[in-house]
Amino acid sequence: MSVVAARELEEDARKYASEAIRLDSQGAHGMAIQMYQRAISTLIKLVHLYPDYHLNRHYLERATVYQERVKAIQQAHGLIPHDQPSEELPVEATTNVQVGGNTKGPQVVQQLKASFSELVIKEKPEVKWDDVIGLEDCKGAIRESIVFPFLRPDLFKLGWPRGILLFGPPGCGKTMIAAATAAEIDGYFISIDAASIMSKWLGEGEKNVAKLFNNARKMLSDNKPVIIFVDEIDSLLGTRGQEVGGEVRVRDQFLRETDGINDKGKNLHLYVIGATNKPWSLDPPFLRRFVKRIHVQMPDSNARMAQFRIYTAPLTLAEDVNLEALARLSEGYSGSDIKDICQSAQLRVVRELFSSGKALDKETQPRPIALADFKEVMRSRRPSVSPEMRRAYTQWSDSFTAL
Ligand SMILES: Nc1ncnc2c1ncn2[C@@H]1O[C@H](COP(=O)(O)OP(=O)(O)O)[C@@H](O)[C@H]1O
Ligand SMILES: [Mg+2]
Repeated sequence: MSVVAARELEEDARKYASEAIRLDSQGAHGMAIQMYQRAISTLIKLVHLYPDYHLNRHYLERATVYQERVKAIQQAHGLIPHDQPSEELPVEATTNVQVGGNTKGPQVVQQLKASFSELVIKEKPEVKWDDVIGLEDCKGAIRESIVFPFLRPDLFKLGWPRGILLFGPPGCGKTMIAAATAAEIDGYFISIDAASIMSKWLGEGEKNVAKLFNNARKMLSDNKPVIIFVDEIDSLLGTRGQEVGGEVRVRDQFLRETDGINDKGKNLHLYVIGATNKPWSLDPPFLRRFVKRIHVQMPDSNARMAQFRIYTAPLTLAEDVNLEALARLSEGYSGSDIKDICQSAQLRVVRELFSSGKALDKETQPRPIALADFKEVMRSRRPSVSPEMRRAYTQWSDSFTAL
């Protein structure tokens, strides 16, 4: 089965589903059911053809939602006997779906039109600038790109960049720095992850990207900067040649919207920050929109030391543990690796306490964590970013970084 055929199927499922939703909201129940059923069987066919595709779980969730809707209409309108057999869904499809036996038509239709607000986090995250360790040039670049133009737009006679791409190995603070930006800047922060645009918005993807940007533009009326943060932005693009999830349309809409900000909105303080672990999967037209491209790097020795200082602060350490040694030993580990290492080291002494049978006595404490514990943890837990991967990031960065 070719990729083209799969893409056609996805396109069909999308058409059937939007047609079903349209008919359903007009009260044309019989026809709506037919369309839902076509959408369901097309989605199932798709999943069978591409058992490993990363959007399958979401296809199945969609299929389940449609099936629930069909049942609800049938029961509410007595269209078909209750026990009429319907297309069986794989068991996993029944998880994570909240529609249930709701027979109130319009409400369910509302849910099917995947809601914008459920994907968006508008509250300010707790993370502060100073919680982000190291990454000074990264913080500096963000501050310059967003704060300076806001304070003195008159100084930016040729405009200023609206797209910022944070790229780099996993677990090094991309998501964290975006959250800190939100807390630091007096403005609005809309956070979505690209994977949920692709999944929940199956068939509605490009419309909802448009909605996202429209909402963002509305928020601008408060005269504060508005930041749209798209985490894991590479999922908008899909694997090259395997775009069966509507990626092409969503991506094109996304490009149009970002162009809209750059061209028409000369003085708009609307920014798009994207984050990715896979910068090489972004194609040139996409990259071009992200005028600033910042490498969020693996922590150096100082940064690792600072991370160990923070994560070991609540722990009881033996005399032989010193931060310099930990920093030296942890060359190649990411920030989130270091957090795990500290957690595992603590777990070792706790585990010991439990196996000694004394843990239930609330007075007994585990022994202090020794350097040997950290060494043992690191021996059995290799860095999550391999040297080859690090080289790949550096290489990509050499060609594409733009500060
Ligand atoms: N530079 C950093 N400063 C402080 N903590 C970090 C840093 N990098 C990673 N961490 C820790 O690792 C976790 C995962 O980082 P995250 O920002 O999600 O990484 P990414 O988005 O790059 O994959 C964070 O929640 C934090 O606990
Ligand atoms: Mg992240």
